[in-house]
Amino acid sequence: MKVALVLCVVLLGCSAIPKQERRFPDDFLFGTATASYQIEGGWNADDKGESIWDYMTHNHPHVIKDSSNGDIAADSYNNYKRDVEMMRELGLDAYRFSVAWSRILPDGFSNRVSEAGVAFYNKYIDEMLKYGITPMVTLYHWDLPQKLQDLGGFANPLFPEWFEEYARVVYESFGDRVKHWITFNEPREICYEGYGAATKAPILNATGIGNYLCAKYLVLAHARAYHLYNNQYKASQGGECGITISVNWFESLTDSEEDEFAAEIRRQAEWGQYAEPIFSAQGGFPKEFAERVAQKSAEQGYPWSRMPDFTEEEKQYVRGASDFFGVNHYTAYLISATEHISQYVVPSLMDDAGVGSYVPEEWPQSASSWLTQGPNSILKVLTHLKEKYNDPKFYITENGWSSPPSSGLLDDDRIRYYRAALENCLDAIDAGVRLQGYMAWSLMDNFEWMEGLTERFGLYQVDFEDPARPRTPRKSAFVYKQIIKTRVIDHSYEPDTMTMTIDDGR
Ligand code: NOJ
Repeated sequence: MKVALVLCVVLLGCSAIPKQERRFPDDFLFGTATASYQIEGGWNADDKGESIWDYMTHNHPHVIKDSSNGDIAADSYNNYKRDVEMMRELGLDAYRFSVAWSRILPDGFSNRVSEAGVAFYNKYIDEMLKYGITPMVTLYHWDLPQKLQDLGGFANPLFPEWFEEYARVVYESFGDRVKHWITFNEPREICYEGYGAATKAPILNATGIGNYLCAKYLVLAHARAYHLYNNQYKASQGGECGITISVNWFESLTDSEEDEFAAEIRRQAEWGQYAEPIFSAQGGFPKEFAERVAQKSAEQGYPWSRMPDFTEEEKQYVRGASDFFGVNHYTAYLISATEHISQYVVPSLMDDAGVGSYVPEEWPQSASSWLTQGPNSILKVLTHLKEKYNDPKFYITENGWSSPPSSGLLDDDRIRYYRAALENCLDAIDAGVRLQGYMAWSLMDNFEWMEGLTERFGLYQVDFEDPARPRTPRKSAFVYKQIIKTRVIDHSYEPDTMTMTIDDGR
């Protein structure tokens, strides 16, 4: 058989390999992902402090499409046992979730630790471990304590110290059982959308300035939490610590040099800002994009570049500070140097990049305006990053597809998306990418930030009208379960029932 396959690769190219025979390695971690504010509820339970999302949704409810909020969300604060039961039903190896900073440190600082907050996550983690499910914990998934925001949040140069102290409390509290740590989820969305625009809390809209300040202190804060773990906890706790960056795929519209360069600039502007300082050999912000920002800043009369530099010492401190590269991947765009260029606000990151983007009509469209299914985009991302950053270890820490609330349980579009993405993961593994796991977004429907409850990403549907927030598996849950169980993507598989069971006695 092997000989036949090799011959087939040589003579016909890889696409001729019968794909359903390819298997995910036994130690590949299949999981799902969620985030505290999106699922937990219990926004003021016990002594929890106010987060920037509590503050924003309570004071400016109209910024959310349906004026909903995460006060109760999927109520995982009370339903955590059901959550773990769903993980068992799916047969998950791992579950990625985040800790709410203001649930652990109600005032943001580590002088006061909430016993109730620590107890909640202890129960959640212990329930997973009881059934052999590996917890993967994100320290920060967008819900900063409002008291720290009042002091400038990520734009305050002291932010890295605050984050390090928070990280210390979390490692101390849960590190005996948690072995996979992610410092930040999606720096771009934190900095660009929250500081440089008004599309995420804290809706600062400090366009072209706040986003770059945030980027610098976020990267330094990540490095602090990484070194803290590495120096003080790794030897005794034996885990790993990395960061999750949203890496959508930006490909040149044509193969002209100008378009190729435009695509590279956009990649640097979108995620290179965060990946380059940590994963590149030279460190610091991405060169060509930083030059553009500096040049535009000078033309605009600023006495300095709007994108602050790292000192040599900082560069060295940050470089290499990650055990793995967590990739959140969803969508793709075609990039042009001359076409599809919009009128951007000046100054802004988009004006600094100054390139055009385009999505072909034939790419399938989800319920989210920004999310389409571009061909082989995960494969392109992973092979690009492997090459660019010297073969790091990867996890896909999020990947998923949205549908409208009315779409019900039969989600063939989500199944199509997941199967294509997972085929790409196998292609990447075949190409030598050190991909260790895949977390589907999301275990269940949840509060989709500015879109409120109007976009659903769950393998399980959640009924938000019912105070008990019952969860019901969608068809995609059965398909994902089958893939996890067999380690094979069988495109012809159709579940013969929509009733879930726990199969392996876990
Ligand atoms: C990535 C974010 O991390 C997550 O919070 C969000 O819900 C998904 N994208 C879908 O938009």
